[in-house]
Amino acid sequence: MRSTLLFSGLAATALAAEPFLNEPDTGLESYLQQSNNWTEGTLPPLKDIRGLNDFDFAARQKLTTENYFYYRTGSAGEWSYRNNLDIWQKVKFRPRFLRDTTKVNETLGISILGYNFTSPVFISPAPRAQYCDERGELNYVEASAAEDTLYVAAMYAKKTIEEIAAAKSNNTINGPQVIFQQIYTNANLSVTWDNIARAERTGAKAIVWTIDAPADAVRHRAARFDTTNANSATSALTWDIYDQMRNRTSLPIIPKGIASVEDAQEAIRRGVKAIYISNHGGRQLDHSPSPLEIAYEIYRNAPEVFTQVEVMADSGVRYGSDVLKLMALGVKAVGLGRPFLYSNCYGKDGVQKAIQIMKKEIALDAQQAGIADLKKISPAMINARELEDTVYIGEKAT
Ligand SMILES: Cc1cc2nc3c(=O)[nH]c(=O)nc-3n(C[C@H](O)[C@H](O)[C@H](O)COP(=O)(O)O)c2cc1C
Ligand SMILES: *[C@@H]1O[C@H](CO)[C@@H](O)[C@H](O)[C@H]1NC(C)=O
Ligand SMILES: *[C@@H]1O[C@H](CO)[C@@H](O)[C@H](O)[C@H]1NC(C)=O
Ligand SMILES: *[C@@H]1O[C@H](CO)[C@@H](O)[C@H](O)[C@H]1NC(C)=O
Ligand SMILES: *[C@@H]1O[C@H](CO)[C@@H](O)[C@H](O)[C@H]1NC(C)=O
Ligand SMILES: *[C@@H]1O[C@H](CO)[C@@H](O)[C@H](O)[C@H]1NC(C)=O
Ligand SMILES: *[C@@H]1O[C@H](CO)[C@@H](O)[C@H](O)[C@H]1NC(C)=O
Repeated sequence: MRSTLLFSGLAATALAAEPFLNEPDTGLESYLQQSNNWTEGTLPPLKDIRGLNDFDFAARQKLTTENYFYYRTGSAGEWSYRNNLDIWQKVKFRPRFLRDTTKVNETLGISILGYNFTSPVFISPAPRAQYCDERGELNYVEASAAEDTLYVAAMYAKKTIEEIAAAKSNNTINGPQVIFQQIYTNANLSVTWDNIARAERTGAKAIVWTIDAPADAVRHRAARFDTTNANSATSALTWDIYDQMRNRTSLPIIPKGIASVEDAQEAIRRGVKAIYISNHGGRQLDHSPSPLEIAYEIYRNAPEVFTQVEVMADSGVRYGSDVLKLMALGVKAVGLGRPFLYSNCYGKDGVQKAIQIMKKEIALDAQQAGIADLKKISPAMINARELEDTVYIGEKAT
């Protein structure tokens, strides 16, 4: 007993040194309790959601443990999951003042593959949206149309490719709504060709090909309920499949899950127009790097990548300032997975609020940092010195 107490005392001290917080405490729960208008186990009013992490708390009130664990799980010890959330602390801003930043909102828009969106934020592919709301992914389609945001639909979405396409708006900044379709390649490639054909028929504008799932992932949290992987069929994933796919579709193919400078360069040699940096939200290989570390590795070894192709990124993004740090390195569009799944517990309004929160935070933090024009954001806006000790530097690095 004594040694147990001693042990837990030491453990507490060790934890106190560097506590991991799934959501830093910004007072949501104390606020709700003093409001006398909230019962544990029910959704807080949407108006009381102030930041994306509040949606995680809210989703825990509504979802069963099993469904929440499916969304929340990382792989193995969830070190990558935690690193994705923690790493932002290592990169500081270098705020510049006495610059007129009042027009920054007008510079928030981006274009990807020639399509325009009103902010750099997009909805990453993550299926089973029906756990939070029975309208499932339809809420994503509608909220992204309302906010002129890119939606990357997941192949294993509850709603079919056709149902998602039928819900598209005809009246967005691009005219008809632009959706990209995520796919996994199947061991039986004719299934893959069918999926690509369906995406083409229903008007998807790009194929986002997930390359970071060459095997089932080790996911202890989700395994407790046997809900580990969406793509349980494993198949040989090779660049040859990319070449075959290239022959089968005229849609741009965006490899999702690029995690090294070499794979970014190989993708460029193969002729891609965009790459998608990600560690799948820490759900595949534990100890795979966060998007900030990957973007920095590319920036340090081959900065030209960011001008040769359009770079998308996701994993662990929760604040406008996270988006700005990636953009400073040259990333163009930044996705979020779990926050949108959680926000869908409030249906379309929740998803839309999540997008609005990000737009607002990006604009306000850009102003705070002295970034007048997001199209001209540069690496000089950040101090990434703390990443220098860990970044991979290849032979050809300068
Ligand atoms: C519940 C869940 C399911 C996911 N399923 C897929 C998928 O089917 N295909 C895919 O490419 N990525 C999938 N992802 C990864 C997301 O596209 C994205 O990379 C990740 O969620 C980003 O990290 P974040 O959740 O920290 O924002 C999934 C993520 C979650 C949380
Ligand atoms: C209490 O919560 C309900 C439902 O969430 C909401 O409609 C109402 O406005 C809230 N009342 C106050 C005083 O905040
Ligand atoms: C968009 O236009 C198509 C073709 O005219 C139509 O079938 C579809 O219902 C429209 N979608 C919406 C959401 O109005
Ligand atoms: C995107 O915006 C640019 C610049 O405003 C414009 O020239 C282009 O036509 C737009 N593209 C689409 C698809 O609307
Ligand atoms: C592969 O999938 C197609 C359907 O797209 C099916 O007709 C065929 O039988 C499958 N082949 C094998 C070996 O399972
Ligand atoms: C792609 O198509 C070309 C022309 O038909 C062919 O020569 C080539 O072998 C094909 N490549 C793959 C990987 O299928
Ligand atoms: C930019 O837009 C946000 C709302 O999205 C608003 O809160 C902010 O005040 C705007 N900034 C400026 C400078 O207009």
